[in-house]
This record gives sequence, C-alpha cells and structure tokens, in this order.
Amino acid sequence: MRVLVTGGAGYIGSHTTLALLEAGHDVLVVDDLTNSHAESLRRVATLAGRPAQFVEANVRHDDVMEATFARFLPEAVIHFAGWKAVGESVAKPLVYYRENLDSTLTLLETMQRHGCTRIVFSSSATVYGAGEPPLSEDAPTGATNPYGRTKLMIEEILADASVADPDLAVGVLRYFNPIGAHASGMIGEDPQGIPNNLVPYVAQVATGRRAELSVFGDDYDTPDGTGIRDYIHVLDLAAGHLAALDYIRDHAGYHVWNLGTGRGTSVFEIISAYERACGHPIPYQVLPRRAGDVARSFADPSKAKRELGWEATRGIDEMCVDSYRWQSNNPRGFTA
Ligand code: UFG
Repeated sequence: MRVLVTGGAGYIGSHTTLALLEAGHDVLVVDDLTNSHAESLRRVATLAGRPAQFVEANVRHDDVMEATFARFLPEAVIHFAGWKAVGESVAKPLVYYRENLDSTLTLLETMQRHGCTRIVFSSSATVYGAGEPPLSEDAPTGATNPYGRTKLMIEEILADASVADPDLAVGVLRYFNPIGAHASGMIGEDPQGIPNNLVPYVAQVATGRRAELSVFGDDYDTPDGTGIRDYIHVLDLAAGHLAALDYIRDHAGYHVWNLGTGRGTSVFEIISAYERACGHPIPYQVLPRRAGDVARSFADPSKAKRELGWEATRGIDEMCVDSYRWQSNNPRGFTA
C-alpha cells in the first residue's frame, strides 16, 4: 500500500516507517522536524535498503497536505504527528489544542477530498486516567491534562467521522509505555532537553550524560513502593501498527486497541534490568511523588491478540539492552 505517515521521523514513527518499508509498503513521511531529526529517516533508509519519501511540513498546512495527497495518492494514513509532553501541555494548553486538533482536522479533511478512507491514530493509555488495571478498551476514559485531553478529543472526532462516513476505517492504538530501540542501535528515542520519561533518563545516566536518576516516590501501594507501568518494546509497537493497518484494510468502522504487554514493571525493576544491560550501577535518589502520576497502569492486551493476531514478544531485558545500545552508540542522539 501507499502509506502516508505523519510524524514519521520521530521515535515511534521512524521504527514504524522502517517496518512498513521492510513489509514492502511505499511510504511518504510528513514531519516538520520540531521534535525529530531528518537523520532518523536517512538511517531508516540505510536499514531498509530503500528510502521513504519525505515532505518537511507541519500537517496543519493544508496547501502542502493537498499537494502531497495529490502527488502520492495515499491508500492509508498513520497519524503520529503531535505534541506529547504532559507537563508542557499544562503550561501551554492552547499550543497543544491548536497543534494536535488542527493537524488532525486538516488531515481528515484532506483524506476526505482524496477518497482516502483508512487511518491509524497514535493514542495513549493516558486516556484511562487513574483507572484500575488491567485496562481493557472499554474501561472508563478521562484524561488529567491537556495532552491527554487532545488524545481523547481526537478519538471522539475520529469516531464521529466514522459514523458520518461508513467507508471510513479507523484504528485507534492506545500505547502503554514504549521503550527500547531497533537492535542495530541506529535509531532510537532522542528527547530534547531533560528527558521527562523514565527510560530515556536512565539511559542518559547509564552513559554518563546525567549524574543520577530521580525516582519519583517509593511509597506507592505496590510491592516495592515505586510506580508500575506496562513497558513495550518499540519494535513490538511498530508491528502493532502494521497489524492494525492490515485489519482496517477490509474492516470499515471505528476500532480501538491497546498496545501493551499486559505485564507491569516497577521503577526499581527497570533500574535493575538497565544495570544488567549496561553492566554497572545506576545511581539514583528517591524524591517525592510526581504530580499526576498513578501507582499502577498496565494493559489488558487481549483484544489486539484476538482481532489483530498481534502480541508483544520482547521482554524488559531486551528492551533495556536495545535502549542502552542505541544510547551508547549515539550519546548525543542524532545530532552528534
Ligand atoms: N519516573 C521516575 N523518574 C523519572 C521519570 C519517571 O521515577 O525521571 C517514574 C514515574 O513516576 C512513573 C514511571 O517512572 O512511575 C514511568 O514514568 P514515565 O514518565 O516514563 O511514563 P508515564 O507512565 O508517566 O507517561 C507515559 C508517557 C505519556 C503517556 C503515558 C501513558 O510519557 O505521554 O505514558 O500511560 F500518556
């Protein structure tokens, strides 16, 4: 298929673009490189043995999107592009609503004009708020910050659009906590500034870029007191996108799937796994809880297994080994 990928130069986008190319699809990436690097796509081309086409643009720019659709004639879209930092979204809510909603509306309108009826959307387990795990797709939703609310609003926009157009096929993927990197160590997560998320921060401590990790709370009601999350290897996540794309090829309507492993791992367990991966201790100090964090979150991934035939296959040790390989090969990310 001809697949247009928004945000395809980013962390999950680049791994998915590679998987699409490896599966024989023709790919065109639209990315404004605000939080990503063109170098990731050059490396994807090296790994795949052929490139994705690339248009450097913001998805909100409807003239560029119009011209891109007219030229590439996409049969399906995977929509990753968007702003994604929880704390930043609290400080700049209007930027988050403008960027994330406007880009999605522009994309859907352009798809409609060109008769493109298949879209896979990057949603997040954040839409479950403080729900009790294991979280299935029919668990109550409710976001706790503007970023999460943009994800929920976009899910609702997609649901409404699919009611209005019976030909539209929508696959919403609710990601749990993606970590790890391609086994080549050539592409991976390259956060700007101080990482917000646990594993990118641990990776920078492991390679000496930062002195020590802050563990946000060891007094949760969990076996070791630290927060529990459902970490999923980014390659398993990328494979989930291909499975969803396959499914919506001949299933119109609105579909939602969790992409997670169904297993919870604590912060202390991540530190131990990363120490095994890098071969030395990870210094840390325990600080108070971070505002807005829940104690435990993990998926019920059975719907994706049942309907898509997809399940995560990689464990925490492989995720940490692959993360460390990427980080130690590229201590300054793509810019070094
Ligand atoms: N944590 C630390 N120290 C850090 C960073 C995180 O102890 O420096 C802890 C957190 O308190 C939490 C766990 O590590 O217990 C995981 O935190 P992350 O920030 O890595 O991930 P979150 O689960 O908080 O959030 C992530 C994404 C969100 C997404 C959410 C979905 O960042 O965008 O998963 O559940 F919405």
